[in-house]
Amino acid sequence: MTESQAPYSNIFPRGHEIPERLDEQHIITTKTFGFLVHPNIPLTSPDLKIADIGAGTGAWLLDVANSLPSTCQLTGFDVSSSAFPPSQTLPPNVAFKIQDMLLPFPPSEIRTYDIVAVRFVSVATTRIEWARAIKNLITLLRPGGWLQWIDSCNFALYNSVPGTSRAACQEMYDGLEPFRSKNDVAIGMMMREPKNVRREDVFRGIGLVDVHEDVFSTDRLQDPELQLRDKGTRNVIACFMGCLESLVEVEGSGWSKERIERVKEEAMREVDKGVYHTLDQVCIIGRKA
Ligand SMILES: C[S@@+](CC[C@H](N)C(=O)[O-])C[C@H]1O[C@@H](n2cnc3c(N)ncnc32)[C@H](O)[C@@H]1O
Repeated sequence: MTESQAPYSNIFPRGHEIPERLDEQHIITTKTFGFLVHPNIPLTSPDLKIADIGAGTGAWLLDVANSLPSTCQLTGFDVSSSAFPPSQTLPPNVAFKIQDMLLPFPPSEIRTYDIVAVRFVSVATTRIEWARAIKNLITLLRPGGWLQWIDSCNFALYNSVPGTSRAACQEMYDGLEPFRSKNDVAIGMMMREPKNVRREDVFRGIGLVDVHEDVFSTDRLQDPELQLRDKGTRNVIACFMGCLESLVEVEGSGWSKERIERVKEEAMREVDKGVYHTLDQVCIIGRKA
């Protein structure tokens, strides 16, 4: 199968997400970036229409809704409704809908949005798959509307105390190789960024303008009270373990439930002893001309 025919089913392993992990990740990510919507994107219109793609628990969308006038309309789309908040708890201007972001959106949604935001929906996506996903999402944008894509990459492990082992954390990360062993991976939290990855060129190649990328490391903020480093490390271990669980069913993967439990326990013990990781948090934006 060529890349152009490849299915998108591995953009993110589905159905393994724990809502509490997503909500904690939302708090840590928002602190690290210091914004929900990139400051280059204007939020002045009182009737903005905003879509959140792969919305999960809706934590991002609901925080954005709280920061805007109630005349704005906000819709969360996700391939699964399992983490959606109960509809009776939602403000009248917020809705959630089931939608695979890789399939065409209903005609009523096309060219109606001012902002389309996507966060952490890919573990490792090739340039060609990513371009196809972006092309589908920009059908939602009005002319002048903005796409914002947030993702992570460049996982790295560190000691904070001499003489401590990082072996289990490394075993966990190495076990994720099947997710990233593709050619020309351009975005996603499992990837290590090759030299000159030039993600902005993908946005520009599709015709988006005013393209800009910011990359913040998760160790940008050092706050002993928030304990972002410790919480972020444990949060991503939980995420990576969820991904490894999907390999248990894959013949010859070498992963069993027992091995996953052992690695998870040992990795958490290593973190107790001061091992931590960093990730780069990437925010890339572009405007539909
Ligand atoms: C790691 S969670 C991130 C949730 C949310 N964006 C956040 O930042 O808290 C990934 C989400 O993407 C959703 N997802 C995965 N593939 C998708 C697809 N093809 N279309 C729409 N949603 C998808 C999953 O169901 C899951 O809720």
